[in-house]
Amino acid sequence: MPDAHRIEAAISEALARARGGATAPGQLSAALSYACLPGGARIRPTILSAVAEACGEDRPPLTDAAAAALEFIHCASLVHDDLPCFDDAATRRGKPSVHCAFSQPVAVLTGDSLIVIAFETLARAAPQDPTRAVALIEILARQTGMPGGICAGQGWESEERIDLSAYHRAKTGALFVAATQMGAVAAGQDPEPWTELGARIGEAFQVADDLRDACESEAETGKPIGQDAAHGRPNAVARLGREGAIARLNDILSGAISSIPSCPGEGALAHMVRMQAARLVPTQAGTAARV
Ligand code: IPE
Ligand code: IPE
Ligand code: MG
Repeated sequence: MPDAHRIEAAISEALARARGGATAPGQLSAALSYACLPGGARIRPTILSAVAEACGEDRPPLTDAAAAALEFIHCASLVHDDLPCFDDAATRRGKPSVHCAFSQPVAVLTGDSLIVIAFETLARAAPQDPTRAVALIEILARQTGMPGGICAGQGWESEERIDLSAYHRAKTGALFVAATQMGAVAAGQDPEPWTELGARIGEAFQVADDLRDACESEAETGKPIGQDAAHGRPNAVARLGREGAIARLNDILSGAISSIPSCPGEGALAHMVRMQAARLVPTQAGTAARV
């Protein structure tokens, strides 16, 4: 099981460097930490580190840089997603979202800065292994931007006709594919055999997020709920019912576990995926769905 302290230390260290000193703009500097600390579930960097461990990790500082970089991209996407021009969400991780706590201009710049910090973190780790670092930068760029990364995912929301599977693959799946591929690359392995595991975890995560959105309270999720119904977005609970969505989630997770490539830490990785999966299923299994 990955060491959560290592992930937090890598995030805090990169943030401290980026926040600068007295000569940096104070609000933007404070907003960088506000957006990332304390974190949420840190599921993406945890999966990345678990894959690196399973592959026989031999460059821990490179794994940590990759884990922090991935989480920075995720945090940036949340800051931008909450803005009034996207989901207009007033809360995130149980506190006011960045544009509410600071301002819209500061929130736009916080997201922008976090994206840059992500790639800077990888570039600074390059002396550990330049070839792996370049591959990590390339994967993270692909899963962040166009045509198939999270930018593309958010972009689908501005189209009249949505290609649903491309939308989910890009919006939610992309950073999980980044997690498994980057974990493998940080440990010197080929990323391709790890694509399916990331894609399947991403699919399961989307169904779990739909369940939380439809079944949990804002106090539990720390962010506005009922958003899919409010924005007319597709939701697995609306399509399959609550029990159907839970059954679908379990099916996808079994597929995820059987897709784990053969590697030294295969058993431990399967255990970690099962543990993360148990956390994904909403606690309020008995609550009526809001769809
Ligand atoms: C929320 O992701 C955004 C989605 C892609 C649905 P998480 O549920 O991983 O958010 P945090 O990081 O734990 O807050
Ligand atoms: C979050 O998406 C942002 C990205 C995945 C880019 P959602 O709008 O679906 O998730 P929440 O409900 O805000 O966390
Ligand atoms: Mg949102």
